[in-house]
This record gives sequence, C-alpha cells and structure tokens, in this order.
Amino acid sequence: MKKFAFIMVLAALMGCGNAQNNENKEQNGASTGSATETATVEQEQTPNNNTMKALVTYFSASGVTRNAANELAGIIGADLFEITPETLYTEADLDWQNKQSRSSVEMADKTSRPALKDGGKVDLANYDVVYVGFPIWWYTAPTIINTFIEANDFTGKTIVPFATSGGSNIKKSCEDLQAAYPDYKFGEGRLLNSIDKADIEKWAASVK
Ligand SMILES: Cc1cc2nc3c(=O)[nH]c(=O)nc-3n(C[C@H](O)[C@H](O)[C@H](O)COP(=O)(O)O)c2cc1C
Repeated sequence: MKKFAFIMVLAALMGCGNAQNNENKEQNGASTGSATETATVEQEQTPNNNTMKALVTYFSASGVTRNAANELAGIIGADLFEITPETLYTEADLDWQNKQSRSSVEMADKTSRPALKDGGKVDLANYDVVYVGFPIWWYTAPTIINTFIEANDFTGKTIVPFATSGGSNIKKSCEDLQAAYPDYKFGEGRLLNSIDKADIEKWAASVK
C-alpha cells in the first residue's frame, strides 16, 4: 500500500465533541498489513472501567486500525468485532492517487454503500456503547462505515467513533457521521494514531 502522509497540524488541534488535542500527531499511517486478512470476531467479556458494556467494532483495510482496535478493546475490557467487507480491499483498491480506484470511486460518491460480509449485522443486544473504528479516507469515514451503521440499529446506544490516519484529525469524520445519523447518539470521537492507556481509560470513562 502506498504511503499516505497527511500533515494537518492546525486542523488536528480540534476533534469531535470535547476531543482532546492529543490528536495532532503527524503520522505516516499506511501500514504493511494485508488487505486479505480475514474477519475476526472475538467475544471475550471482561469488566469495563465504565459500568456500561462496550463493543469495539472496526474496519481496517491495511491493519493499522485493527491494531488500534485491539489495543483499545484490551485497555477497556471490551468485546471486539471486525467490520469485514464482502470483497476485501486490494492494494490497487486503496490507491488514492488513482481516481478510478475502488476507494476513490466509493469516496467520490457519498451514497456508495460497499457491501459487508453477512450484511454487516452484529448483535448489539448486550452493549450500551459501541466504538466504531476506521481509517480516515479523504478526511472522513469510509462509506463502508455508513453501510455498517445502516445495517444495524443503534437506538439507545452511544456510538463512539475512533480512527487512524496519516495525519488528518477525526473532527470531520464525526461531524459527517452525526449529520448522516442525527437520531443516533454519538460520543466524543478520538484519533488513535498513538495509544496512551491512561488517556484512553479517561476517555472511555467519560462516555455517557
Ligand atoms: C483511500 C485512502 C484515503 C486516505 N485518506 C486519508 C486522509 O484524508 N487523511 C489522512 O490523514 N490519511 C488518509 N489515508 C491514510 C489512512 O487513513 C491511514 O493509513 C490509516 O491508518 C490506514 O488504516 P488501516 O490500515 O486500518 O486501513 C488514506 C488512505 C487511503 C487508502
């Protein structure tokens, strides 16, 4: 996968809701992970710092967000669910410099809803808080995240976005998601380009 380095220092000073300004770390976020890795669903229920039960869901095209999701779930004692495309993204699909690549075509059309394995359905009955993680694509969440949100009913839950990126912050992603789903409750989003255990615990504990 091509390296994708974005420098968004000013914008990175802002985040979703009351997001902390620890998101402004410039990263070269592209990873060497394989786009052909298979889905994982892990159900290891351990107590959460927060009294609410949490599920960490994530989409990751090349492995970076997967690592962040694993760390997040471990720190807060949440279950884990991978949002898996029906057709996995190849390196060519992720070529942001090619306007005809799959990711470019999807992101150019806000109404695109890339198909998910098993329709993207996940059993949310046991969870009050659902973290939704993704790589930032073109400054926002990939449209496959819309597929996931629309495949499930988040009524009565709190959706907490998190993301990895090459430097862009998560502010626009959160705003776009909240605007697309005004009836759903969103918690403060967080960029997880770097993991600070104490900060994550504090953030998770603040989710209402
Ligand atoms: C199609 C595409 C678009 C991207 N757009 C952005 C962007 O707007 N801003 C940014 O900082 N990084 C951008 N990136 C970099 C990814 O957000 C970053 O590499 C991310 O950590 C990858 O996560 P993943 O390995 O879980 O897929 C983009 C990457 C791709 C493939």
